[in-house]
Amino acid sequence: MTMTSKMIYVHIPFCDSKCYYCNFCSSIYSEKIKKNYFLKLTEEIKLNKNKNINISSIYIGGGTPSSVDEKYIKTIIEELYKNFNILKNAEITIEANPCSINKNKLLCYKNCGINRISFGVQSLNNKCLKIIGRKNTKKQAINAIKLARKCEFNNINADVLIGIPNQNYLILKNTIKNLIKLKIPHISCYMLINEKGTKLTDLIENKKIKVVNEDKSVEYYNKIFKYLKMHTYCRYEISNFAKDNFECKHNIGYWQLKEYYGFGLSAHSFIDGSRYSNTSIMQEYLNNKLEYKKEKPSKTQQIEEMIMLELRTVYGVDVKQLKNLGYDIVKEKKEEIDFLVKNKFIFLKDNHIKICEDKFGVTNQIILKLLP
Ligand SMILES: C[S@@+](CC[C@H](N)C(=O)[O-])C[C@H]1O[C@@H](n2cnc3c(N)ncnc32)[C@H](O)[C@@H]1O
Ligand code: SF4
Repeated sequence: MTMTSKMIYVHIPFCDSKCYYCNFCSSIYSEKIKKNYFLKLTEEIKLNKNKNINISSIYIGGGTPSSVDEKYIKTIIEELYKNFNILKNAEITIEANPCSINKNKLLCYKNCGINRISFGVQSLNNKCLKIIGRKNTKKQAINAIKLARKCEFNNINADVLIGIPNQNYLILKNTIKNLIKLKIPHISCYMLINEKGTKLTDLIENKKIKVVNEDKSVEYYNKIFKYLKMHTYCRYEISNFAKDNFECKHNIGYWQLKEYYGFGLSAHSFIDGSRYSNTSIMQEYLNNKLEYKKEKPSKTQQIEEMIMLELRTVYGVDVKQLKNLGYDIVKEKKEEIDFLVKNKFIFLKDNHIKICEDKFGVTNQIILKLLP
């Protein structure tokens, strides 16, 4: 019997400072909490031990994994190797902030088998970086990328934000241009979301910063897509652009509903059709018995999830798989599909519904039309 492989996500909820736009589960904690956190994380990994499970990718995300002492990252990776069967060609990613990376950390990551680095670059314009509360400068980001290359990391991603207040198209294009010059093989371009409860939203509500017009962001996004395409980056998902063979296997796994374990504060797992989640409260995670909240998604939830995740990718949503879940989308959404096809928003190919190349900017509106 062949066993399908699974993936592992590890959450590191620590940051050196909080960026104005971010509402991820991350904060600034003492060294003592960090130490206890990694002890608990090790305990959680051991608790889920299963050497029969093949792991095809590991993603150490956050927060900012690079903000902690590298000895912690080493321990976690070693623990994963001891408790699971990590495949030889597994993709192992770590997220890093240009402010907190250095040669020792990079060499340590390399030695433990990490083979992909994802940098939070956001922008290579110092004014833009400042306005969103980033602590790094353009120079630091460029140096971090160069240092990673020197330490023999070829598989590098840079996160870039579209829609930063005061960012115009030229500023955005210059960021991308510099990243292309640095030969970064993977770029994630996210539309900046004004999340509730963040300092950025506060500043906007108090009229200290002007909100960015959504249509402008979509226009910039479409132009950046063309620019990246011209430089042979393929958009394989709405926010993700890669050179050939540099697509992130871990992310593709999420979009294709592959099973994964999630370890750490606020982490989620998806195993045997059920979703398990950890607490998001640090004291609860550290002091309580490890207990997961379990949820079995209903058929409708599974259908919705499949449409929402798969339509964002160039691979599209599988009509047959939806039918297997009891949703005959072609029949039930005939009118909507006819309209969307006629107006060149979507097309049907090899039993998949796919979004037309120039319509990814309105993916959310298309998804809404096709949900059950
Ligand atoms: C965990 S962080 C990346 C690593 C590191 N913490 C850093 O920021 O340098 C993940 C990414 O999520 C994106 N992100 C965070 N908050 C966002 C928001 N409100 N809207 C859009 N993207 C956001 C940023 O691009 C960020 O780089
Ligand atoms: S964007 Fe990254 S560095 Fe900034 S607060 Fe969020 S997780 Fe931390």
